[in-house]
Formats: sequence, structure tokens, C-alpha cells
Amino acid sequence: MAKEDKVLIFDTTLRDGEQAPGASMNQREKMEVALALERLGVDVIEAGFPVISKGDFESVAMVAKKMKNCAVAGLARSVKKDIDAAGEALKSARHPRIHVFLATSKIHMEHKLRKTPEEIIQIAVDAVKHARGYVEDVEFSPEDASRSDKTFLYRVLEAVIKAGATTVNIPDTVGYAVPEQYGKLIADIRSNVPNINKAVISVHCHDDLGMAVANSLTAVKNGARQIECTVNGIGERAGNCSLEEVVMALRTRQDYFGCTASGIVTPEICRTSRLVSKYTGFLVPPNKSIVGGNAFRHESGIHQDGVLKEPTTYEIIRPEDVGFSGVGLVLGKHSGRAALKDRLKKLGIELSDEEMVRAFDRFKDLCDKKKEVFDEDLIAIVEDEVHEIKDLWTLEALKVVSGMNIAPQVTVCLKSSGKRHEKTTTGDGPIDACYLAIDEITKMKGELLNYGIQSVTQGKDAQGEVRVRVNFNGQKVMGIGTSTDVIEASVRAYLNAVNKACAITTSKTKTAPVDLGLQP
Ligand code: KIV
Ligand code: ZN
Repeated sequence: MAKEDKVLIFDTTLRDGEQAPGASMNQREKMEVALALERLGVDVIEAGFPVISKGDFESVAMVAKKMKNCAVAGLARSVKKDIDAAGEALKSARHPRIHVFLATSKIHMEHKLRKTPEEIIQIAVDAVKHARGYVEDVEFSPEDASRSDKTFLYRVLEAVIKAGATTVNIPDTVGYAVPEQYGKLIADIRSNVPNINKAVISVHCHDDLGMAVANSLTAVKNGARQIECTVNGIGERAGNCSLEEVVMALRTRQDYFGCTASGIVTPEICRTSRLVSKYTGFLVPPNKSIVGGNAFRHESGIHQDGVLKEPTTYEIIRPEDVGFSGVGLVLGKHSGRAALKDRLKKLGIELSDEEMVRAFDRFKDLCDKKKEVFDEDLIAIVEDEVHEIKDLWTLEALKVVSGMNIAPQVTVCLKSSGKRHEKTTTGDGPIDACYLAIDEITKMKGELLNYGIQSVTQGKDAQGEVRVRVNFNGQKVMGIGTSTDVIEASVRAYLNAVNKACAITTSKTKTAPVDLGLQP
């Protein structure tokens, strides 16, 4: 494939995605997402906004150090201290990129930045030059580009490319663009910015009007060669362009677009989606394109009949091409440790010996409760176990007596640093009683903000996956837990939140808050 036919995928799940209210991840989670993104084959990972907090700085530095193939970007306003922080955080990256931005729309320049257009051009040029002092790969974003005056935008782009920008990104910051207009903007930039062939044109679309994917695709049709997107489309407000949708649209309709995101290992898509959903706590709706639980399920008899005769009658994508594995039976109660290890390896999961022992115990437990064990089940229990090993509190035992017209009685037994702690208590219902028992044992008072449950696979014996959001003394954390017993899943989810809250002080120490609307 010719270089000009490749569309670069710039993933901003760890930056714009993490800006979504309630989506914050701790450093270990960010690292796991970054590793998953590298396996997925994205070209650039925007790992964070280093100046914003000590935690963000450390996460960017950590991701920068670990990534072998993809470039790692750090975001910076067009101010020295931001660029210095990004340059410093990226210093051990193999392929570092500094992404500087500055608003160019009249509304932003007048009301937010209080700068004249001439001042804006100068600040942008100085910022790009300063960033080039650190790295060769500099991206510039004229924030709110889609609402900027076109002639002014051309001048800004020409100036920043001359100053050394290697990628120019055209953000539809507020999700205001419509495909035809946005596509024309990209075409006009190509015809009116004299040095545009010295830079890659990138697009960054928000989904406020539900058009982020359509806008990004139309931009590609008009010459853009980098798409900024997030896994599951998470992000500020209504979110960003969804990675899985845009990648699969380009791949499925290469005949139309004439180019594709050739670096993406599409069978990694579902697994990455699940990981991001797990760490952000944002459930993927069943009808979500590509990664939703129903995306490849055929309910109508006519469709089922057609798919059995010839899958392409109703399937434009083969489920296995995106790693959708919700249909095959994989292992059962007679499967041994080697079979489990082998299956996990095929799913791309490698465990240490200690993790493997615990995962195998949970797998055997599950086989006793559930006839059929699917890949999703394995992923869910392994994710649960791997976490528990590193956690402060683990669940040792649980006894629940409950029913209609009787007060529930529960006994929760937790282990911490080798010591067992047991509490028997009652509550408004069995889950409330369990959570009270955990609070008493751990001495952490949690306020339950949100509770949600969904099944991991289909069938009455499916595992339940519970997600909770809990407020511990002002610290809001998300927890997830799975089991065929929904009360146990609820306990595991709450405990996961307790453990995160315990770890959070070290992993997410914020420095003085930064007002992102500050003048540069
Ligand atoms: O939406 C936006 O404009 C951004 C920029 C920082 C690229 O996220
Ligand atoms: Zn954005």
C-alpha cells in the first residue's frame, strides 16, 4: 500500500477520553490500556496532558518509556511551562511527539484568550519552535478550527508548518461540523495553505451532534491522513470519534475511501474496548456498532437462516475480524491448566505463575456453576483475579441468608496482609448488608453513587458483571466485579472500589489545578 493510502490512527483515549466526567483511570490502568493500544497497532498514543498534574506527568512518562512501536504524544497549551513539561515527560520515548494547541476561532480568541489574531499567530509559531527544541515530531492544533475564519486558519497553518509543525490537526472541538462542510474545509486547506504538503493533515472530531465518525471519514475522503479517536468513543461531553467505528468503516469500505488504517490489528478491537469499558466504568451499549454485545447477534429467523447458509447475507464484517468471540464454546470442567493457559495466550493474556494459580481456581469454580465457559467469561475472571493479587483487600468467604419478609444476614470475610477479618451484619437488603460489613472491616466509609449490572454472556447461568461508583470521603472511584452469583459480583465490585481508593493517593496526586481556559 502506498504511504499516502495509509490513515494514521492517533488514539487519545488516555487524554481526551479520560477527560470524560467519571472516566479517570489510575496509573496502572492507564499503562494496561496503553499496552492494549500498542497491541491494537495504533500509530500514536496521546498519553496525557503532562502539565496538568503530577499523576498525568508520571503516566505520560511511564507510557513513553514502555511503548516500543507507536509514537507517544503529550498535550501542551502554547505556553512554555506546558511544552517543557511535555518535553520532560516524553524524554525516554522512542518516538516522542509534542502536541501543542491554541484556539483560533473568533469566539475563543476574544472571550477566552483575549488576544488579537496577530498575537495568536506569533504565540503559535513560538510554541511550535519551542516544542521543536525538544522533539522533531510536533503537532499543532488550532482549537475550534471548524468555527474559525478560514482565511485566518490558512495563515495560522502556513505559519506553524514553517515553524516546524509536522502534523496539523483540525479540531471540531465543539462537535459543530457537518460532513460535507468539514470535508470541504479539509479540501480548502489543501488548496490554500501553500506548504501543506510538508505536514500530515489530522482530524479531531467531537460527537455532540452524533457526526464525529462521519466527519472524520469525509475528511479522509478529502485528504486527511490522521484520525484522532478514542476507544468506545469516550471523551469530553458527548465523546470523540470512535476508533472501532472509523477503523472498521475504512476497512470495510476501502473500495469507497481508497485508503485504510492498515496498522490496526482489528482482532484486538473487542478486547481493547472491554478493557477501556472496565477501567472507565462506562458500559458499552448492546447496540453499539462493532463492539456492542448485539453487534453480531441475529435474532430474526430469516436473518439466522441466511447467516447459516452464507454469513455475508447479513454480515458485512466477520465477527472474528474484530475479536468478537461471544459465540464459541471454549473450555469446560475437564479442561486442565495447560488448556486454560493456551486459551488465554490465544486471547493475548499472559499471566505470571501466581496469577495463573488463582485464575485457574476461579475457572474451576466457574465450571462448577456454569455449563459453558466463553472467552468473555475467561477475560472477566482473569481481569478480576489479576487485580486481586495486587490489592490490599481480597475476598475470602461470603455467606448470605436472605429472602422475602426476613432481614438479610450476611457474613463477609476479607483478607489483608495475610490476616482474616470477618463481620456478620444485616442491612436493607443483602447487598447493602455486605457493603456495610466491608465498610466496618476496612474502616472506609463508602457512599454508593451508582450500581449497574449486566450479564457477561447469554443464558441463565451467565456471569453477572457489576459496576459500582463509590464516594470515599470525596474520592469517587469505580469498581467492577464478576461472578455467577450476583451478590458475590456486587461484593467484588465494591471491594475493587475500596482497593482503588486505597491506592489512589499514590497514583493520582494532583498538583494545583490548572484552568485550561487560561491565557497562554
Ligand atoms: O477538542 C479539541 O479541540 C482538543 C484539542 C486539544 C485537540 O481536544
Ligand atoms: Zn478534543
